[in-house]
Amino acid sequence: MNEKQYFQWFPGHMTKTKRQIQSSLKLIDLVVEILDARIPVSSSNPDLNQLIISKPKLILLNKCDKADKQATMDWIKYYAGKGVKAIPVDCKTGIGLNKFVPSVREILKDKFDAQMKKGIKNPILRIMIVGIPNVGKSSFINRISKQTRAKVEDRPGVTRGNQWYTISKDLELLDTPGVLWPKFDDQVVGERLAFTGAIKDNILDIELLAVDFLELMKKNVTEEFLQRFKLKADDIADIDGYEILKLVGRKRGMLISGGEIDTERAANLVMDEYRDGKFGKLTLERAEDY
Ligand code: G4P
Repeated sequence: MNEKQYFQWFPGHMTKTKRQIQSSLKLIDLVVEILDARIPVSSSNPDLNQLIISKPKLILLNKCDKADKQATMDWIKYYAGKGVKAIPVDCKTGIGLNKFVPSVREILKDKFDAQMKKGIKNPILRIMIVGIPNVGKSSFINRISKQTRAKVEDRPGVTRGNQWYTISKDLELLDTPGVLWPKFDDQVVGERLAFTGAIKDNILDIELLAVDFLELMKKNVTEEFLQRFKLKADDIADIDGYEILKLVGRKRGMLISGGEIDTERAANLVMDEYRDGKFGKLTLERAEDY
């Protein structure tokens, strides 16, 4: 395997997923795409817009607890400029989810009104969740269904196996999310997904990953990172990622025999601490670059 080849998606897998999503689309009025607020581009699916064609979409910028607040606001403006509403959420604690139902209503208002005009007494609008692995789909569904509890069982005419959660009197959520694939042929995308932990480390060269991460960190350095390793911005300004890794290892006393620095241990530490949010709120993709 190429050391930087992070994904293994197969055409058969993609075709099956596409078919599943297409058949679910017939049942729903709105697609909710969950993205990772730290990497909105790398956590998106390259084919989604084409796949959902005329369905409206709402974006949830999830894990906003780990993202830079201003950067998230910039992304919201960016999507608004493209005519798509996006809201920041943290599906782990539920922060921001109170904006979900009002946002769905706003997007589907015309459809709802049209149904009322047609004489449909209690129109029900249906939603499905899509997103790449680990972006927070199950967390979202758990949160939103816990808030409402009721699960709609055995709806006549609905394909068997499809379960719906009632999330308000006029909104239902398909309980099975669409699992999408990322842009798996793009190495930068693979790398950024790996930084955030969306791809498991056991298929990665952790040292290589940490070196690339530290290069990026250098450009977006946070106070939290500097304080954690008792560094000044100048200490890392003119050295490369590998040298920063060694510096971090030395600061933490990670030595192996002969006084050499255990860079593998240091790499694991760096990636764990980043994913735990110990380097502060760090967005790795900025709207201004797209
Ligand atoms: P998926 O269904 O899309 O595959 O994702 P899932 O909900 O399983 O979430 C993947 C991981 O991301 C989980 O962590 C989950 O807790 C975490 N997560 C989801 N949303 C948020 C969020 O808004 N903020 C933060 N900080 N984390 C979030 P895990 O390590 O797999 O499990 P656990 O540590 O929660 O037990």
